[in-house]
Amino acid sequence: MILTFPISPTAPLSALADLDITDARFKADPFPFFARLREEAPVFQARAPRGQRPWLITRHDDVLAVLKDDRRFVKNMKSAMSPEQLKKAPKVPALFSALGRNLLSLDGADHDRLKVLVHKAFTPRMVEGMQLATQDVTDAALDRAGRVGHMDLIADFALQVPLSIIGRILGVPEQEHPKFNRGMKAFIAIGSAPNPLLIPPILSFMNYLRGLIRSRRRQPRDDLISALVGAQEHTSQLGSDQLTDDEILAMVFLLLSAGHETTVNLIGSGTLALLQHPEQLERLRGDPALIKSAVEELVRFVVPAETASQRYTTEDVTLSGVTIPRGELVLAVIASANRDPQVFEHPDTLDLSRSPNRHLSFGQGMHFCLGAPLSRMEAQIAIGTLLRRAPGLRLSVPAERLRWRSSFIVRGLESLPVTL
Ligand code: HEM
Repeated sequence: MILTFPISPTAPLSALADLDITDARFKADPFPFFARLREEAPVFQARAPRGQRPWLITRHDDVLAVLKDDRRFVKNMKSAMSPEQLKKAPKVPALFSALGRNLLSLDGADHDRLKVLVHKAFTPRMVEGMQLATQDVTDAALDRAGRVGHMDLIADFALQVPLSIIGRILGVPEQEHPKFNRGMKAFIAIGSAPNPLLIPPILSFMNYLRGLIRSRRRQPRDDLISALVGAQEHTSQLGSDQLTDDEILAMVFLLLSAGHETTVNLIGSGTLALLQHPEQLERLRGDPALIKSAVEELVRFVVPAETASQRYTTEDVTLSGVTIPRGELVLAVIASANRDPQVFEHPDTLDLSRSPNRHLSFGQGMHFCLGAPLSRMEAQIAIGTLLRRAPGLRLSVPAERLRWRSSFIVRGLESLPVTL
């Protein structure tokens, strides 16, 4: 059966097992499908590119159970799969293997050690210290857009804020921002479509970052890379383990991808949600102090990370009456948990003062998002300032013409043309 979008509510579930969950047309509105799964098949095997067959977990309590159970749902497929399963598993290209040892692909003590070290560097004081810079970047982007009266809110605004701030946090010098941005562009592009032409600029970006790590080791400054290098030296003095250069590089790449892929979508899809709910938009304009709770509701509603990252079962596990065999790929569907009527009143309603708001948008358990305070701060400043400075903000194209990105875990728009 050929699937058409939006998916018919009467399409048999057996046909939906062929649905490609990375399809851009699916990404536009996955919520009715997830609602159906919560009701009829809360543990459901779907399809993804490269032959993967992930199990989608859609009820809030099951999603929580998966995220909190780091014994039966692990990140390292090698410790979960049988030798036969491993042979068939997709291989990570050798080129990127140095980046493989990062927080999101490690379990247990290996993970905790890195997280403790990065937490020392990624402090609330550091986030607070970025508020003024965030306001500056936001204002500069809006000044540029204001001169022409329109912009692509994704490329010209939502992406500018997290990219520029993570560059500053890491300690990329101002004059090297163009080089950094070129490297990031290639890195972002390869995430959406593998292209061999992007490999040389990514390798040169990796070399650039290695150079930055070496230079901070020689001469530390007040930045995150120096703090990570410092954490390394501190632990080595105690005679215990230390962060290797590869681990710092992998951490930096994780921060770069986790740090922009998601926040850009919180600001971008969040603004679209406000434009599509004019009464909520007016409410926020009338009461700017609502911005904290508004961002919390937007992150629940638009789910920048539609699912948590990959996990693998270490044994046969039964959830909501369905047994998932050992060694299988499991995706905890945050987009679905956040709309579960067992937990949220009127889950499909955008309510900027929703309380309590037990969304799982930043995950839960040992892999809980490191950057949650940073992205909250960035989104509050970016969205709050946008609404204040652009009272006539509106879409420049009909909403039906907006395209969503085809991607595995994140959910976001390709572009969002607006008139200010
Ligand atoms: C709206 C913005 C963001 C959202 C929705 C988000 C979402 C998430 C989620 C759902 C996880 C858990 C994944 C899992 O359990 O498989 C996670 C982990 C993580 N996030 Fe975020 N994130 C955001 C922003 C950021 C930012 C700004 C940074 C850093 C600059 C960041 C860094 C990380 C890291 C390092 C982890 C891994 C933590 C670990 O494995 O212990 N995130 N994020």
